[in-house]
Amino acid sequence: MSLAVTIVFLAFVLVCLADAQNVQTITAGYSKGSDSPLNVTAAVGDVLYFSIIDTGKHTFSQTSLDHPCVALAGGFSTGVDPRDNVDFGVKLLEGNATVYYACMHHCHDGEVGTVNAALDPTAPGSFDAFVLAAKGSNVTDFTPAANVSTPGTYANGTLFVLSDADIKSIIESYEHLTVPSWAFGLIFVGIVAIMMGSLYLLARYWLRSIRAKAQAKADDEERSWELESVSSKTLVEGQPRAPVRRADPFEGFPI
Ligand SMILES: *[C@@H]1O[C@H](CO)[C@@H](O)[C@H](O)[C@H]1NC(C)=O
Ligand SMILES: *[C@@H]1O[C@H](CO)[C@@H](O)[C@H](O)[C@H]1NC(C)=O
Ligand SMILES: *[C@@H]1O[C@H](CO)[C@@H](O)[C@H](O)[C@H]1NC(C)=O
Ligand SMILES: *[C@@H]1O[C@H](CO)[C@@H](O)[C@H](O)[C@H]1NC(C)=O
Ligand SMILES: *[C@@H]1O[C@H](CO)[C@@H](O)[C@H](O)[C@H]1NC(C)=O
Repeated sequence: MSLAVTIVFLAFVLVCLADAQNVQTITAGYSKGSDSPLNVTAAVGDVLYFSIIDTGKHTFSQTSLDHPCVALAGGFSTGVDPRDNVDFGVKLLEGNATVYYACMHHCHDGEVGTVNAALDPTAPGSFDAFVLAAKGSNVTDFTPAANVSTPGTYANGTLFVLSDADIKSIIESYEHLTVPSWAFGLIFVGIVAIMMGSLYLLARYWLRSIRAKAQAKADDEERSWELESVSSKTLVEGQPRAPVRRADPFEGFPI
């Protein structure tokens, strides 16, 4: 039984722009309950970061579609490591390379994964097809391949296994990018402030335009009063009525 299967696979997709902000994380795990995908898509230069988090039980070994549970000659393999939390990183040197991998102990349970496999699940070579092939495998010797994960190129030059130092620096650069929780509070306050400010400006603009319209109307009325007064003066002898100044409807309003 492999309920406690625990090889966790994290892939950091580093978009190679000068700015380190463009780091995408893909997480995957064999662990039951993990929501991480075991079928990932990666581009040239992307780093696939694997972390084995259960002691001495699991491996991460490159296999093939034809023989899902047999370690591929010239492929990479972590071997079984007695330590916990083993980090392992592979850089993709060719974007079109499809990588099949398996936990050599639990391959027949379908504990396998793919990188850049066909997206259509019904296509030959897809992740789904690989899982089925692994489950149907008649391999009974699950001896994992030795740890061949010394830094260098593997799989006919399509993959590069990173050194521990490389992995460490990738993990560190990733961790530095995680947003601390207090920053979320700051961002929230900032957004609220911007919203309030916008509302204030909008209300001010709206009230000012109402005021301007009311003022224009009052001015018009005043002008027609004057005209009327002038014409009444010419027709009728006597004092013209003094034009009445309309009060500003918004007088005293603080805008
Ligand atoms: C991985 O598999 C899931 C479920 O089959 C699917 O929804 C998803 O599109 C696949 N992703 C890739 C990159 O193949
Ligand atoms: C993948 O692309 C490279 C060029 O980038 C080419 O040399 C190689 O033959 C391709 N491999 C496959 C399996 O298509
Ligand atoms: C296992 O299956 C392969 C075909 O996938 C076959 O060639 C081989 O003989 C089988 N081995 C055993 C022991 O059944
Ligand atoms: C495999 O060997 C490399 C190089 O000796 C080492 O850095 C790495 O930690 C080993 N990994 C495992 C899983 O044993
Ligand atoms: C290397 O290429 C050969 C020939 O195409 C192939 O049979 C073999 O499986 C490849 N090995 C790896 C590890 O990709």
